Amino acid sequence: MAEYAADLQRQGVTLGLVPTMGYLHEGHLSLVRLLEGRCDLKAASIFVNPIQFGQDEDLGRYPRDEERDLELLAEAGCGLVFCPDAADMYPSGFRTSVEVDTLSQPMCGRFRPGHFSGVATVVLKLFNLTRCSVAAFGLKDYQQAQILRRMVEDLNLPVELLFGETIREQDGLALSTRNAYLSPRERETAQAVPKALEWARRRASEDIRDCTELSRGISSILTSRPEVRVQYVELVDPESLEPRNQVGERVLVAVAAFVGTTRLIDNLIVGPGSTMKPIHGVNV
Ligand code: PAF
Repeated sequence: MAEYAADLQRQGVTLGLVPTMGYLHEGHLSLVRLLEGRCDLKAASIFVNPIQFGQDEDLGRYPRDEERDLELLAEAGCGLVFCPDAADMYPSGFRTSVEVDTLSQPMCGRFRPGHFSGVATVVLKLFNLTRCSVAAFGLKDYQQAQILRRMVEDLNLPVELLFGETIREQDGLALSTRNAYLSPRERETAQAVPKALEWARRRASEDIRDCTELSRGISSILTSRPEVRVQYVELVDPESLEPRNQVGERVLVAVAAFVGTTRLIDNLIVGPGSTMKPIHGVNV
């Protein structure tokens, strides 16, 4: 990959990258489309990155279907797919990690120690290996997006970042590879997540300014389903990810919850300054 990327660069061919962990859905494909007109060659990587999974997490059972992924990427106009092996990415003796301070601490960082360092490290390696000039990430992983933005700025990386809106199912559930773990009954229960966010969006634009009140309302919608275990509900500044007390301008509402054994995350920007449209398909 490194040699091929160097050749492309010598020929003046620019490469756009969508880093993925495979088992693709429409959210990933929308990121490939986002690269249209921004580079000469649209590329994706498929790599289930072991260093971003905790000991008790789902690395072993993370869904994989490389054949189908390759077909979908070709249909979406990807001219190159990079599928490295873990042993090549992390040979014995590998010792370096990228730590993006502060932004990695709240929200998912509290429950997934080391996760964002694993993400930042692999993304930097993918940028270096592919020499991409542009890369696209989804805003469903909002904290990841902010961390990668910071890393690119802090390390002066010559990569333009593009961020794609969360793509949702008809009933509002955010697309995620991990939705594949949900049983039909859990899938139905998971609707509580977009429902709680849509409730917050509406109330924040109408009458509730107090973040604690919004947070309580969100939690109570989530826990009205006994199968849902809330990990966090956080209302934070969309740039610094620091906690907010009041909805003044825009506030990021971020949620992580288990439905059965499946951990789902979702978020929405609310408040009078937000341009967020209602979540389609959700009735509150
Ligand atoms: O968002 C993901 O799928 C992963 O965190 C990423 C960015 C591909 C790094 O492994």
